[in-house]
Amino acid sequence: MSMDYTTAPSPCFVLDEKRLIANLELLNRVQEESGAKVILALKGFALFHAFPLIRKVLPGCTASSLYEARLACEAFGGEVHACAPIYLKDEMEEFLGCVSHVTFNSLSQWEQFKGQTPGRGISAAIRINPEHAEVQTELYNPGRPGSRLGVSPDELGDRLPEGIEGLHFHTLCECGADALERTLAKLERSCGPLLKQAKWLNMGGGHLITREGYDVSLLIRLIQDIRERYDVEVILEPGAAVAWRTGVLVATVIDRIERRGVRTLMLDVSFSAHMPDCLEMPYKPEIRGARDPQGNEIGWRLGGMTCLAGDDVGDYVFEVDPAIGQRIVFEDMMHYTMVKTTMFNGVPHPAIGIQRADGSFDLVRTFAYEDYRNRLG
Ligand SMILES: Cc1ncc(COP(=O)(O)O)c(C=O)c1O
Repeated sequence: MSMDYTTAPSPCFVLDEKRLIANLELLNRVQEESGAKVILALKGFALFHAFPLIRKVLPGCTASSLYEARLACEAFGGEVHACAPIYLKDEMEEFLGCVSHVTFNSLSQWEQFKGQTPGRGISAAIRINPEHAEVQTELYNPGRPGSRLGVSPDELGDRLPEGIEGLHFHTLCECGADALERTLAKLERSCGPLLKQAKWLNMGGGHLITREGYDVSLLIRLIQDIRERYDVEVILEPGAAVAWRTGVLVATVIDRIERRGVRTLMLDVSFSAHMPDCLEMPYKPEIRGARDPQGNEIGWRLGGMTCLAGDDVGDYVFEVDPAIGQRIVFEDMMHYTMVKTTMFNGVPHPAIGIQRADGSFDLVRTFAYEDYRNRLG
């Protein structure tokens, strides 16, 4: 049963443990039936209070920066994979002290750091770009022409550099298994000889395995097939799929205004600061008890609390017109939210809570003025 969100503070991100467990069960099936490892991409979801639950099923994490690698080491355990666009000289010793696998985004970075990996049980890889685009939104498309993410196949030729054991590609974003199938076909055409030499192949993230309708059987078949034909270990590193539809952002209507026929609910959250993907993608979030207006129907626009003119998303028709003080519940606000939020305009950061599987509610973090101030000097 859904929790009574009036019992949570507002604003508050609330993770629903039961839903996370359901996602993990599906990801476990993928691991068991395909033989692939599934690891959590921290860039998408890093609520470390949930790590003990996730760790029961997923054997590790992938980090895209030193801080993520440290968090993986300290709070998750297991394998820590690193895949960052750049590694910094001053950080690299500490970084390598945290990881089991490290993927380089360029041959020059590999050349720079290859002397630091031997003898410490770290397996190194190169990120390749199969030069195949499946993602329509350019901001999220690593396969765009001239992309800075991943070495192009012709740079590598048909031999892996000495010391490199793995291959990594990441080209998908919220995609189905059919997109992976097309990507693998292109990868095999352009990098077949390299695949034969690799010990492991990391297929990146962007596999929205837990979305309703995702073809899990096709994914399992594709992985089994690649593992058998190339004798490689396969790794998937989704972020969004782990936390997909596992929680909400609870907000409150603070004011209602009407200007030239546009009715706006002013909220104690911001799209820019707390739900940035709504503006970046852009997309219109789902709201509990509300729907899109039809025809000439007049709805309520939702307005964020910063001064950014465009800190709003489209219009909604509610089952009951929301009154001042009423809660607004934004669905699916666990992935790419808490990891991306800002305190732009000095707005307070939403608290973070967990609805436990037994129905109880734990408030795990609240934020204060000091959190804002301490970032600035
Ligand atoms: C290299 C890499 N791996 C994994 C991911 C996780 O992707 P997603 O959260 O879409 O599954 C990303 C996302 O940008 C990425 O860049």
